[in-house]
Amino acid sequence: MRIFKEIQSIQNWCKEQKVQGRKIGLVPTMGYLHEGHLELVREARKHCDIVVVSIFVNPTQFGVGEDFEVYPRDFQRDSSLLEREQVDAIFAPTAGEMYLPDFSSWVEVTGEITAKLCGASRPGHFRGVTTVCTKLFNICLPDLAFFGQKDAQQAMVLEKMVRDLNFPLQIIRVPIVREADGLAMSSRNVYLDAEDRKQALVLNQALEQAEKAIRDGERDAGRIKQLLQEIIGSSPRAEIDYAEIYDAYDLADIQQIDRKVLMALAVKFGKTRLIDNRLVEV
Ligand code: PAJ
Repeated sequence: MRIFKEIQSIQNWCKEQKVQGRKIGLVPTMGYLHEGHLELVREARKHCDIVVVSIFVNPTQFGVGEDFEVYPRDFQRDSSLLEREQVDAIFAPTAGEMYLPDFSSWVEVTGEITAKLCGASRPGHFRGVTTVCTKLFNICLPDLAFFGQKDAQQAMVLEKMVRDLNFPLQIIRVPIVREADGLAMSSRNVYLDAEDRKQALVLNQALEQAEKAIRDGERDAGRIKQLLQEIIGSSPRAEIDYAEIYDAYDLADIQQIDRKVLMALAVKFGKTRLIDNRLVEV
């Protein structure tokens, strides 16, 4: 497994792979890897000749007062996990390598898709994500790039960027990987104390019950939203940032559930903000 820290050297290496006719799969991550990330890697391994994993805690997608400085990092552990998954290369640049002092070019997807949900709670977040992913795509030249359904809005925004700007690659979405008790895996779960960890199960429970209500015939989006809020509200430690239901393709508002919908949650337990979601097609 190769480990690259410099843009120029991995870009040359990826160009060489392409000249050899190899299909490159890229898995962008911020490290502190768990089974959710590894599932993306395994999916990439299935579809591609060369698997590149980037590990970069991207400063431009964190807002002021968010957890950039304390975001968990463990490169040694990450690289041994990736070695075991037979990854071909890790790209782990420094912030200085990715953002030169005079950096001033941004890629931004505008409209409802970035204005709602995490776009509303975390201004500038998606601009940071789309900019860094553009850089990673230009550096690693992937044919396929793998993203988790865990960050549903992120995947939607990146798919739109790829469509709008004709990036020569395809985005593959991978389903959410959960702990045995239903909590969606996240690098941020380590922040939770024992009580919050227990209470955080309410996210998946709310999504499950809301899906059941839809399957049982409920078609009023407002009532589903209310149900989500009631169930999450039953946890004394949960502080709802959002609990919403939107069109799964473009996050348009819906009154009636008559198409594929995305139920999306962001809930704080103490200082830890967790997200979860579920797609339902009727
Ligand atoms: P990070 O949070 O490290 O996640 C990297 C990828 O792993 C994302 O595509 C995310 O959706 C996926 N992932 C995380 N938890 C998952 C789970 N439980 N099941 C399935 N997939 C999961 O998302 C980012 O980093 C960054 O925004 C990034 C895209 C790397 C840009 O900086």
